[in-house]
Amino acid sequence: MSEEIANQVVLYEKHGATAWITLNRPEALNAINVEVCDGLARAVRHADADPEVRVMVLRGAGARAFSAGADIKEFRPLESASQSRQSLVPGNRWIDAVGGASKPMIAAIHGFCLGGGLEIALMCDLRIAAEDAQFGLPEVSLGIIPGAGGTQRLWRVVGVGHALRMILTGERIDAQEAHRIGLVTQVLPSGRLVEEAERLANVIASHAPLALAMAKEAVCKGPDLGLTDGLRLEADLSALLLTTHDYVEAATAFAEKRRPVFRGR
Ligand code: COA
Repeated sequence: MSEEIANQVVLYEKHGATAWITLNRPEALNAINVEVCDGLARAVRHADADPEVRVMVLRGAGARAFSAGADIKEFRPLESASQSRQSLVPGNRWIDAVGGASKPMIAAIHGFCLGGGLEIALMCDLRIAAEDAQFGLPEVSLGIIPGAGGTQRLWRVVGVGHALRMILTGERIDAQEAHRIGLVTQVLPSGRLVEEAERLANVIASHAPLALAMAKEAVCKGPDLGLTDGLRLEADLSALLLTTHDYVEAATAFAEKRRPVFRGR
């Protein structure tokens, strides 16, 4: 099944339990303008609210890029820091929408994955890359810093040393290096990227939806909680899952030697 939810620059397709969300400005290497932010936020919110969707895959249209970052042609100077901050706060709501999704998100990355493009990939839970992928945060070369979570999410994934190397030098790294430092979990021949994203999505979608959401919540909140509070959150979420239909269904299906039918409740 296929449907258009977002807009022309962000495409939304639902295939089975997977929402495929595609940044679609290939002529500008999928650079992120206001319409992309809006379309992406709407697509992710829609997928998160649709009970039939269990996992999302984000990717870029065209042969050359996942996304080459913020649309530099839209950059405008603002007169004061307070004016700038006032415009940034509402303008950044898309980041909360995409970064705050409760369902698992996979970034399938090919070609350039720069600036805001990398920051979108960092909002995802799994990142897989084609051999031709290149990653970088070149913001300091433009007089700015990563402003869509890059200064906070990158070091949580690759550690402070690699994050500062990328942010302070602005240099690009290739897919193998991204794999070595843990920025992506797999590197694939270009022709196999979508196939592998689909395989991962199907595996994830076969599991209990509430367990997936709570596993994501526990892992994502963990680094900010400290071990004691993190373990308490894990215990609370575990206790909650023991009250669900899907928990009973999994045990029943095991005893009956059949596949469980999860309902997300
Ligand atoms: N914003 C707006 N347009 C962009 C863009 C961006 N971030 N990145 C690429 N484009 C556009 C180019 O302007 C060009 O459009 P045009 O044909 O109308 O001039 C088109 O995409 C193709 O890019 P081009 O620069 O011709 O390709 P290239 O192979 O020579 O270089 C890059 C590719 C990615 C190295 C180069 O485009 C680049 O450095 N982009 C900016 C990356 C960046 O700094 N991102 C972070 C922003 S905070």
